[in-house]
Formats: sequence, C-alpha cells, structure tokens
Amino acid sequence: MAFKVPRGTQDILPDQTPKWQKIESVLRELARVYRYKEIRTPIFEHTELFHRSVGDTTDIVQKEMYTFEDRGGRSLTLRPEGTASTVRAYVEHKMYGAPEQPVKLSYMGPMFRYERQQAGRYRQFVQFGVEAIGSADPAIDAEIISFAMDIYQTLGLKDLKLVINSLGDKETRDAHRTALINHFKPSIHEFCDDCKNRLEKNPLRILDCKVDREHPLMKTAPKLTDYLTPPSKEYFDQVKKYLDVLGIEYEVDPNLVRGLDYYNHTAFEIMSTAEGFGAITTLCGGGRYNGLVEEIGGPNVPGVGFALSIERLLLALEAEGVELEVEDGLDVYVVALGDEAKLKAVELISSFRLKGISADMDYMMRKMKAQMKSADRLQAKFVVIIGETELEEGAVVVRHMESGNQEKVQINEIVNYLKEHLR
Ligand code: HAM
Repeated sequence: MAFKVPRGTQDILPDQTPKWQKIESVLRELARVYRYKEIRTPIFEHTELFHRSVGDTTDIVQKEMYTFEDRGGRSLTLRPEGTASTVRAYVEHKMYGAPEQPVKLSYMGPMFRYERQQAGRYRQFVQFGVEAIGSADPAIDAEIISFAMDIYQTLGLKDLKLVINSLGDKETRDAHRTALINHFKPSIHEFCDDCKNRLEKNPLRILDCKVDREHPLMKTAPKLTDYLTPPSKEYFDQVKKYLDVLGIEYEVDPNLVRGLDYYNHTAFEIMSTAEGFGAITTLCGGGRYNGLVEEIGGPNVPGVGFALSIERLLLALEAEGVELEVEDGLDVYVVALGDEAKLKAVELISSFRLKGISADMDYMMRKMKAQMKSADRLQAKFVVIIGETELEEGAVVVRHMESGNQEKVQINEIVNYLKEHLR
C-alpha cells in the first residue's frame, strides 16, 4: 500500500516553505508593532473547553472536532480554533491581574476541523490569531480590525472587502432569539433535523444552515440589527467612527452572524473579491466576546480578536497574482577539482557558514561541468573554484555568476572578499 497524507491535510514542500516563512515573518513583525505578544498553548485541550466556548450547537462542536479519549480515559480534542485555548490560559495564569491592561496576545499554529475538503477548506490548517482581553473600548475593536486589514495590505493584496455587523448585547440577543423562535416555529417541520434542534437551543444558528439556505423564511427572518439596544447601537456607532478615522472602508451586513457562539457586539469578516477566488471567500473572521472569560471560569472581563488562515491567505495571493519576494538564494557554491582541493573546499564552506554566508558544494562526486551546472541551478551568486594550481598558489578563482567576471583571490582573503561583495 502506498501511503498518502490524510484527506484534508497537505505536505508543504521545500519549494513552498520560503513563502510560508515570509508570511510568518510579516505576521510576527506586525504582531510586534501592534504589540500582541505571542502565546503558545497545547495542540489539544479538554473537550469540555470547546463545548463551553465555541458552543454546543455550532457545527464545529457538533460535527467537526477531532475528539479522542486518552489512555487515562480523559476526553481531549485537537483544537479547532485558538480563542478558547488563549482565554483558558489567560484565566489559568490570572493574566487579568497583570498591571498592564488589556492583555494583548497573538498565536500561530495548526488547528483541526473535520470539514469537507475543498479549495480553502482543510482539516488541518494554520491560523494566526490575536486576542485583546480586558478592554471594552470600541477603539480596540477598531485596532483589531485595522491590524487584520494591515496584514493583507502589507502582503500586497488589494481585492478585499471588510464586512462588519453588531450582534448586540445580551438583551439584544434575547429579544432577537424570541423573535426568531416565533418566526420559524410554525414551519419548523419543513426544516432539517439540525434546524429542528437549533430552534429552542440556538435559533440564530438556523440562519447559518447550509441545507435550508434557500427556504423563503430565511430571507424574511427578523434581523438582529432591528433589536439592538441603545447602548449596543452606540457601541457599534463608536466602532464605525474609529474605522472612519483610520480610513478603513467597510460594509455593514446585518446577516453576518459568525459560526461560533461566543460573539457579541462587533463581528467582522474580511473577504477576497479577487476574480478566480474559490467559493469560500472569507479570509479572516473575528469579533468581540464579552462574557467568554467568565464562562471559562474567570472574572467578567471583555475581549475581542480575530483569526485568519495562512492557507486562505496564500490562495488570495495566488488569485491576485501577487508574487512574494522571498530570500531563497545561495551565496556561494564551491567547486573542487581533485581530492586535495576537496579537503580545502570542506574547510572553506565551513568558514563561510561561520560568517553567515550560505554555502554549498558537491557531494555526488561529479565532474567540474556538472558542479557548475548545480551552481547555476541553485542560483549561486558566486562560485569559488579550487584546483591544483590554485592550491599551490594559496588562492581560489571566484566567479561572479551574474556578470560572468572571474578573478583570483588569496584564500586567506576570500571570506572578507565575499562578505564585501555580498553586501
Ligand atoms: P473562524 O471564522 O472559525 O473564527 O476562523 C477564522 C479563519 O480561519 C477563517 O476566516 C479562515 O481564514 C480560517 N479557517 C477556518 N476554517 C478553516 C479551514 N477548514 N481551512 C482553512 N482555513 C480555515 C475563529 O476561529 C475565531 N477563533 C476567530 C476569533 C479570534 N474571534 C475572536 N478571536
């Protein structure tokens, strides 16, 4: 049997990793300037954590989690997202007591969801996410949104759409919930079994249903926006005002509800509008989650954040034809002719590497011509050639590959020579 990667996962091969590393370094650099310090939490958590946070009636918890029992009989789950773990760690380490508030955290790593595989939807994917916990200031909602937009713009994407909505406060949601139940209840027999279950438990989720999307009652369903309480409306207005100040364009979509239960007030998604981008256009999603910290056993502290996947970011770059500038070149390839020269070559590349010069040589016992071909293929900036004559003279021949110019350089000068010319 030939082994293959499990469905929904992928190998990221060496010709792709430079792009990943470039994106990761941009994300880390932006986290530094926005001041969201990195947190690293385990890949798996107690299953109950996700039931409590993401929500029992969500697709993620009901259908998509990789849950298993460990040898001690505990139910564990591979994390489907990063907010729950981050908030768990925030509570566990009592970060609410830190002198500087809000606590601003970022994370990057694999997440796992048992989803149907299609373009942009994987079972293992890498999320970069940020959370600002401890502030109920609408200005930080705007900071979070502007951080997310900044990522895409820094990487050169242009075809973007920011969609925002307010999910209101508890009062808003309770009133809306009652209205939804009244709206769907008389015809609930026409809906799928999931929706029947959702009706009493979490009618808002009916609006997300992929099966009953076309049902006429979906279009006429009461809108959350119509139930916003005055303080919720005021909060949303403030967020929009800050976005205006930042010059960030947005569209208000009253149907944006998000697929996780912990949200209230601000919810947002960034979509790709690039032609040729697949059916799933959401690049990034986030929002406010006042109440989640308390739900997980901490004090009543508000929070807001977002997450995006690098996989979808790469798809967007591809759809827009953006080529990332990646540093993947080889500084110097050493060509050795004869056994004596090879000894010297091994010594030389080691001294280059000690000085931070990337260096390689032939390990396939090939002739000079084949070695030169390798240097070409690897796009070496310089080739250093050592033959018998050069050895006797204590020198090497250096070829500058771009110009084709060659010169003889003394062996004890070669490191400095390369450093000088590589600058
Ligand atoms: P989410 O909308 O479930 O939110 O996921 C955020 C992003 O993760 C999506 O916009 C998408 O880029 C990526 N993503 C999700 N599922 C997949 C998949 N199967 N394959 C590839 N990419 C995927 C959250 O996870 C929240 N924790 C975001 C958040 C943070 N809200 C507040 N703080």
